[in-house]
Amino acid sequence: MTTDGMLQLHTLRRGAPGRLPLVLLHGFPLDHRMWLDVTDLLAGDPTVLAPDLPGFGTSPTGPDVAEALGADTAVPSVDVMADGVASALRAAGVERAVVAGLSMGGYVAMALVERHPGLVAGLGLVDTKSTADPDEARAKRLQVADTVTAEMRVDAVLGMRTSLLGATNRVTRPDLAERIERWIRDQGPHAVAWAQRAMAARPDRTAVLAGFTGPAVVVVGGEDELAPVPAAQHMADALPDAELVVVPAAGHMTSNESPEPVAAALQGLLRRAGD
Ligand code: MLT
Repeated sequence: MTTDGMLQLHTLRRGAPGRLPLVLLHGFPLDHRMWLDVTDLLAGDPTVLAPDLPGFGTSPTGPDVAEALGADTAVPSVDVMADGVASALRAAGVERAVVAGLSMGGYVAMALVERHPGLVAGLGLVDTKSTADPDEARAKRLQVADTVTAEMRVDAVLGMRTSLLGATNRVTRPDLAERIERWIRDQGPHAVAWAQRAMAARPDRTAVLAGFTGPAVVVVGGEDELAPVPAAQHMADALPDAELVVVPAAGHMTSNESPEPVAAALQGLLRRAGD
């Protein structure tokens, strides 16, 4: 996991090095593969880094990342995910990047802005929200974490194969649900439980967005039921320099339901950030 004491996360790398990189942070309970539909559409061969967040894909577990960072291994947190990403980026020679995250990846991106402000040259928030969980949602996450740990299977989150999609694509794109289910089945129950507990504990970061003066884009599927349009509007209103892109006929997985406008939004963000 470490080279010369530096943390590594399994990371997809694309494009020519040496330019302002675009760092793509995946949603829950998935891995970097959810970004491939978007990266395939990025013109001009930009530098792209898409890490697997702690525990997902083939990255080290959340507790292992916490240990490498000198953080409390018993406390799952989005901050550990963010510090792990920052450390892995530094290990790869990246000191500054445009950072974009979908949903859980967005929570990590906002934690990066708060904890590693010098790293974030531009911010892309895709189908995510800056508010903390209400009590009921938090309790449900902890219950799911307990269930997947007890069952040692990820069945308790397989329903996300359809709930992540918009109402339109639930009917018209069964291939998408099948693909999402394959990605979910590739993740381990411990990663799912750790991330649920981490997300349950995350704070409201709306004020962090208000202090971010770099360029930002907020992207949301018009049919997103998990981080709906008002949540995106709330973030766009807080950010001093944000564009809002509403993707029609797409739900929470705009990256795969409608990757073209997502790629265009991120490409525009790279330009605004000075790539
Ligand atoms: C995601 O897509 O990452 C999840 O919906 C995040 C969450 O559960 O809040």
